[in-house]
Amino acid sequence: MQNHPSLNVAILGASGYTGIELVRLLLNHPAVHIKALSADKQAGKHLHAIFPNVTGFPLPLLQKIEDIDFSAIDVVFCCLPHAASQQVIKTLPQSLVVIDLSADFRLFDIPVYEKWYGTHHAPELQENAVYGLTEWYRDAVKNARLIANPGCYPTTSLLALLPLLEQQLIDPNNIIIDAKSGVSGAGRSLKEGNLACEVMDGIHAYGIGAHRHLPEIEQGCSWAAGQPVSLTFTPHLMPMNRGILATIYTQGLKGITVGHAYNALLQAYQAEPFVQVLQMGTSAATRFVRGSNSCHISVHQGCRAGQIIIVAALDNLLKGASGQAVQNMNVRFGFAEDMGLARVGVFP
Ligand SMILES: NC(=O)c1ccc[n+]([C@@H]2O[C@H](COP(=O)([O-])OP(=O)(O)OC[C@H]3O[C@@H](n4cnc5c(N)ncnc54)[C@H](OP(=O)(O)O)[C@@H]3O)[C@@H](O)[C@H]2O)c1
Repeated sequence: MQNHPSLNVAILGASGYTGIELVRLLLNHPAVHIKALSADKQAGKHLHAIFPNVTGFPLPLLQKIEDIDFSAIDVVFCCLPHAASQQVIKTLPQSLVVIDLSADFRLFDIPVYEKWYGTHHAPELQENAVYGLTEWYRDAVKNARLIANPGCYPTTSLLALLPLLEQQLIDPNNIIIDAKSGVSGAGRSLKEGNLACEVMDGIHAYGIGAHRHLPEIEQGCSWAAGQPVSLTFTPHLMPMNRGILATIYTQGLKGITVGHAYNALLQAYQAEPFVQVLQMGTSAATRFVRGSNSCHISVHQGCRAGQIIIVAALDNLLKGASGQAVQNMNVRFGFAEDMGLARVGVFP
């Protein structure tokens, strides 16, 4: 068996959905020791008292962040709400590698961040942050001190769109993203809108024309296209626990067909372990990526001439959050990129 250097890891916000998913992944990671776990209201408890699926593993108690000794820690995963995340990260020792799952360091233009999220409390850290969409920024991730792990809707949308925008195959100003998410995307804290009666047995749009992931998706698309991209993005809440599905309507530029788009996506991701372009005629679906770190992408002919429809699906808690965070850690520390991560989803 290969010997790996061992990393000491702290997970801040371990009592939340992305936090417990990181614990689950890292318990199966051969190069990691979980040394510290934090919570806010749940501090002082054992994690298994909240999530019995980790019963029997010797995990540290949930502590308040201010009580954690970071001196022996190598990597911090920050699974805190935005704003709280910046306040914590700016106090951490500079020697630590930080992988932040919140939105706090994902928007590289501070005024844009402040328009959507309010005051930025650590703009000086933004300059050195790296956007952790692994397949696209792998080289930067290798040397990063602060990795801004992308949002779940942006990961789904950008993986589908970036090859087409970068190669100028589609009209950058004619993109509509119709996306659906499971309820775990909103986190574990109590919210009236996430009560069973509000979510089950129905589907509704939310954040119409004003969802906070819009500027992040536009930022990534603009970087790839080399010009400002404005698009339409409408998310919907689905009566399911996990999963994101984005149906993306695009218009091929002169003479570009669905076949060109398919080949471009196939070529872009042929060597990637966690992005699969499905054969033509098969449509990406959340049920086949559940429990995996994979993003499935399918390409379809629209009903109008030149219209190309892309469907992308991933598990919001894995490739859309904690799985991609582990993927980034693997890249950052030179481990095999798929260490501790599943490529095949759980079905049924
Ligand atoms: N859920 C997703 O699918 C997803 C996907 C991508 C990115 N993200 C982002 O990842 C972050 C975590 O999301 P989540 O869904 O895991 O959230 P969550 O389930 O609500 O968990 C939040 C965690 O942070 C702790 N916490 C809350 N407020 C705090 C504060 N002021 N100071 C210190 N700790 C605090 C909570 O502790 P207590 O339990 O003790 O209150 C809990 O451990 C968010 O920024 C979210 O936007 C989430």
